[in-house]
Amino acid sequence: MGNSNWTQLWLDYDKKGCDANKEVKVTFEGFDKADRVIASAVKELTKGLLGKEREIVLFKDESVAAEGYKLFSQDRKVLVKASDANGALYGVFALIRAEACSKDLASLDEGEMPSNPLRMTNHWDNMDGSIERGYSGQSFFFENNDIVIGERTVDYARFMASVGINGVVINNVNVKGAATYLITDRFFDKVQKMQEIFADYGIKLYLSLNFAAPIELGGLEVCDPLDEDVIAWWKEKAKEVFTRLPGFGGFLVKADSEGRPGPFTYGRTQADGANMLGDIVAPYGGIIIWRCFVYNCTQDWRDYKTDRARAGYDYFKDLDGAYHDNVILQIKNGPMDFQIREPISPLLGGLTKTNQMLEVQIAQEYTGHQIDLCYLMPMFKEVLDFHTHCCEGKDTVADVVSGRTMGNKLAGMAAVINTGNDYNWTGNYLAAANTYGFGRLAFNTELTSEEIAREWVRMSFGLEKAEEDKLVDMLLRSREIYEKYTSPLGIGWMVTPNVHYGPSVDGYEYSRWGTYHRADHLGIGVDRTDKGTGYAQQYYEPNASMYNDPATCPEELLLFFHHIPYTYKLKTGKTLIQHIYDSHFEGEAEAEELAKTWDSLEGKVPQEVFNLVKHRFEMQLYNAKEWRDQVNSYFFRKSGIADEKGREIY
Ligand code: GCU
Repeated sequence: MGNSNWTQLWLDYDKKGCDANKEVKVTFEGFDKADRVIASAVKELTKGLLGKEREIVLFKDESVAAEGYKLFSQDRKVLVKASDANGALYGVFALIRAEACSKDLASLDEGEMPSNPLRMTNHWDNMDGSIERGYSGQSFFFENNDIVIGERTVDYARFMASVGINGVVINNVNVKGAATYLITDRFFDKVQKMQEIFADYGIKLYLSLNFAAPIELGGLEVCDPLDEDVIAWWKEKAKEVFTRLPGFGGFLVKADSEGRPGPFTYGRTQADGANMLGDIVAPYGGIIIWRCFVYNCTQDWRDYKTDRARAGYDYFKDLDGAYHDNVILQIKNGPMDFQIREPISPLLGGLTKTNQMLEVQIAQEYTGHQIDLCYLMPMFKEVLDFHTHCCEGKDTVADVVSGRTMGNKLAGMAAVINTGNDYNWTGNYLAAANTYGFGRLAFNTELTSEEIAREWVRMSFGLEKAEEDKLVDMLLRSREIYEKYTSPLGIGWMVTPNVHYGPSVDGYEYSRWGTYHRADHLGIGVDRTDKGTGYAQQYYEPNASMYNDPATCPEELLLFFHHIPYTYKLKTGKTLIQHIYDSHFEGEAEAEELAKTWDSLEGKVPQEVFNLVKHRFEMQLYNAKEWRDQVNSYFFRKSGIADEKGREIY
């Protein structure tokens, strides 16, 4: 265990024992060493590689896929082959990773090509420095309604490039106040400066856009996407933006959602809004990423027909094929909102003629606020591996969002990111596994959750095998454990309103957000079958029938799709109510095991890391107990059915 410098996350070269002043012989075959991305690759090699006597050849090979790389050892040389500079940079980071993971550099013969063309992070950073759903300090992009550029900006770009991220949206999707002015002269110089730093690492910068900018900035009366004055205003604006920000990627738009302005106000469709902007940025090579998180957030809880889960599909499916080529729809993994367990959004693959990308959240909004351990790759793998049945053959979500299904170029994955200004970037040190993991998974969706966890643990801690196994195992179990002590069988929510940490079983039960569990004295769950809201019918067969019938519905999603009596027998032979009790006792007990395993790593991981994570586990255990006891008591009181095992329920 060397000194730790967690400001460097998994790229802590000092810990690895690298001598920053050493000479690494790098030669260039076909690459220009003056290229900005190649120059970054060389810098990284110099700082991050141990093997001094080796010669590294950055070798241009047109046969390698765009942004892909191959590593090949030859005598005392390692060839990093790529067809473009990004590929070479990723190859260099792969080489550094290979060394950190104790691979023999003398016999390398491996490579990767990116599964997804767009691999993006979305920051929900506000310009006052706060972060919406941020659990690791303030923003490192913004402060006091201004842009901040410093060492963190460079390090951030390095970390992202090291896992293959090639696009970053720097501001919150809820664009208000000063953020509306990011597309004005007030900020162009600083945005450009940031974008230059990103460009050194092959990353494009994107901005979230306020759809009402023509009103707020332009003084127009409306922001109707079909209004001529509005279109003219946007044309001028786009010209200004792309001239002042050469290399700029484009815009992310949250419209008609949770109070944000959008085309619906003017009786226009989502396609009208997205295409208007798409056409305007097209001449500059820009793209419009349009979010599908559109639903009625002023629902009446008495209304059993309106179903928030249906909304995305209902609003977007009919317009499939209407979106222009440089527009891409960004779809959350589930139909609700980043719960610990949801079915896969039926819109993914439901659309067959529209560019689409997957949105996941590694900021742990509903999954423990980076206090509770929750390694999310197992969840993301389930999403990617899901067969949509949208066609014969390439029908998984991974196929759809990578562009393999439809042969489209604009495709990919985005994550709402979990970083902030905390010394260690992610609040909980262990939450960095999600930061690292998302990038690696977006780059290579074939990697397993375990492979990714192991890479991260090796690069971050460099533990002995037995300890490494313990930590990897903790990560791999953590999602299931969190699921067990929170809301049961896919029903979701039951969280403290607004905050979204800690239990409040009825917290969202009588609210306007469409987030109900419908528990009564006989049972619980939302009927989303053909006799209920009809949501299950939004899937292709055989998924639609599978979900429609409680006998074939995967049990982890049972209450999402069905209203089930407490006495219903699950496949384990247990009644539903007994399952609720058992899983909550188990989940809490397993959280205690996690904490104990962590205790056994004292002295093996840097002390400050140990202490902070230990404290987080103490908070997690408190949380898990609250969840266990509140959920169990709630259902005991509703159902009047006692725990078979006679445990304490209040
Ligand atoms: C959730 C989250 C909001 C966020 C929204 C979104 O509802 O709680 O903070 O703005 O998702 O994805 O737009």
